[in-house]
Amino acid sequence: MKIRILLLTLICAVATVPGVRAQEGKAKSADQDEQTELGAKMEKVGAAFRKLRGSAADATKNADSLKQIAIIRENMTAALKFDPAMKADKPAADQAKFVAAYQTKLKEEIAVVEKVEAALKAGNNEEAAKLVAQLGQDQKDAHKQFKKGAPKKQ
Ligand code: HEM
Repeated sequence: MKIRILLLTLICAVATVPGVRAQEGKAKSADQDEQTELGAKMEKVGAAFRKLRGSAADATKNADSLKQIAIIRENMTAALKFDPAMKADKPAADQAKFVAAYQTKLKEEIAVVEKVEAALKAGNNEEAAKLVAQLGQDQKDAHKQFKKGAPKKQ
């Protein structure tokens, strides 16, 4: 008798788990749906930038640093085609100006990325590391200005 109850409990548990998993999956995909196309590009920039931060100062890692630079430049350039989600919070009359300012800032940032590339190619890792630190600060400033929900004080 006890064994039957145990078996029944087991069957119920096994039957419920996939249901729970499916719901978890749904919640996750709802979150993912919220990511913008710009957000997806930025996520790739973020992953490559984390690696670059760890490798920029080290001349033995220049090949990998240059790979990350290529990923950052490619995705920042692609990000120029999209408007920040924050645009919708701006009054209609200010939206064009807001998007233009976003594009100008992003182009400036791409220019800094290109400077990092030049420094690495010249074997100047000290300069590369300084520029990467600047990129980190610029990122914070840019996010305060253009990224919806970013903390205003960091
Ligand atoms: C090294 C520099 C940068 C890094 C590592 C970086 C990284 C990121 C990351 C990880 C996200 C969140 C993505 C997500 O999960 O959806 C994000 C979002 C965003 N970033 Fe950057 N970012 C950088 C520079 C910039 C610059 C220079 C700008 C603007 C000029 C910018 C504008 C934005 C905006 C607007 C979003 C929100 C996405 C949206 O509105 O749809 N980022 N960034």
